[in-house]
Amino acid sequence: MAPLADALLALARRDLTSFHALPVSHEGSLRDSEIRERYLALYGAAHLAADVSYSGAMLDSFFRPRGPLLQAQRLAAQAFGADHTFFLSGGTSTANRVALGALTRPGERVLADRSCHQSIHFALPGLGVEVDYAPMRACCDSCPREFGDIRRLLEMYAEAAAEGRPYSTVVLSAVSYDGVRYNLPAILGALAETHPHVRVLVDEAWGAAHNFHPDLRTLTALHTSRMLRRSGEGRQMEVAVTHSAHKSLSALRQGSYLHLIGSEEMHERAAQELFQLHTTSPSWPVLASLDLARAQATAEGERLLRRSIDLAHTVRHEIDTDEKLSAFEVLGPDRHLLDSSMLVADDPTRVMISLKNLGISASDFRRQLFEEHDLYIARECGDAILLHLHIGVDEKAVQRLLQAMRTIQGNRRRASSAFSGGTCDQFIIAYPPGVPIAVPGEHLDEGRQRLIASLRTQGREIYTLRGRGPAEPLQQPSPRRD
Ligand SMILES: Cc1ncc(COP(=O)(O)O)c(C=O)c1O
Repeated sequence: MAPLADALLALARRDLTSFHALPVSHEGSLRDSEIRERYLALYGAAHLAADVSYSGAMLDSFFRPRGPLLQAQRLAAQAFGADHTFFLSGGTSTANRVALGALTRPGERVLADRSCHQSIHFALPGLGVEVDYAPMRACCDSCPREFGDIRRLLEMYAEAAAEGRPYSTVVLSAVSYDGVRYNLPAILGALAETHPHVRVLVDEAWGAAHNFHPDLRTLTALHTSRMLRRSGEGRQMEVAVTHSAHKSLSALRQGSYLHLIGSEEMHERAAQELFQLHTTSPSWPVLASLDLARAQATAEGERLLRRSIDLAHTVRHEIDTDEKLSAFEVLGPDRHLLDSSMLVADDPTRVMISLKNLGISASDFRRQLFEEHDLYIARECGDAILLHLHIGVDEKAVQRLLQAMRTIQGNRRRASSAFSGGTCDQFIIAYPPGVPIAVPGEHLDEGRQRLIASLRTQGREIYTLRGRGPAEPLQQPSPRRD
């Protein structure tokens, strides 16, 4: 059941003409246009019919919903275990601002985790609150990730309470871009025990999906808050949780959930903040996708997440055991167990891979994957890259990635042996400029080897030619666009 998606679909199927706005809706402005085909190729007729500006009784009010949006938000609150859920079409950057406005009051003290997203850093100074940041820490020598120093955050919180100047609000970034998850049962439990009247914003941008798998759910903010409330410990605590749904569920970009566990007053404050901060032209396709994403996660989330965790194991296993992937090294999770005293854990749907022994930079590796293999990796940390095995990645995609990694390693090995010194038996030519670096019979001294290595790092194409015959690109060309 997806009431908002169904209501929008019913409207999209009608032959409606709007005298309000959005000329492109239902292809109205495109009927006799030469540009229509490109619109259709990019967006499709279905999307153009569903992008509507109806409000109030015709669909629902975004700011004071009473119809299908309200029903969809209630179903989402039930599925995630919140008291209230808001749908936003302005991303979690907006959801974080709304949550902070609802939780804080001018003059109060806020303790924020330094590793929070920019949206929180930008919002806090405008709220009239006194902010202290708990520092970040590095994981260890073999791992380039950074995250909040939770021990220090809890100390700062306890010191402020002991001094009689407690923090009213605490802000945590609990599921990071790099796959670090906070141990929320321990952290929220400690906050409630030290000073129970606390409001907490937990930014779980990357972790919406975790609520739908029994093993991943145990560390989530909503599950933890319910448990604390049930035990009586967290009864006075108010918690807002933000989920960038488009990062881990089948929601469209900018789809975000803001969940609340707390009083009716908190709910009303959040509604008022939403009214002030959200665009007055919400995207109904994005909002409907939040409804569908919840419906799918409820029905299929556990199976899909199980597949993601299994695929992450496959990647780690192949890298460990396949000689053709020996230049890659898995940094985490699993073998890189974070010290439990840091109060963090690894997200098992992420795999961090070191490229130290591959001999090309992480950005060159990412560019080769994108240009030559149609594979995209967003994150690089030093000489490592990070894979997110989200629910849209299947076995076939993982096999394609592994095959591409084998190809890149093979090319690197062949290139290294051709350039490994001694007397050259072929032309070695970088383009541009096309003047041979070495011709057959010349000695490939260290200076020339260094030059070749540096040109390759810059992404230049380097060819070899053995007498007559076609040139062989030693390094698969990866033309720079800049
Ligand atoms: C931890 C965190 N919070 C919030 C956001 C903002 O989310 P959105 O891009 O949906 O505005 C991000 C985006 O990457 C994030 O990583």
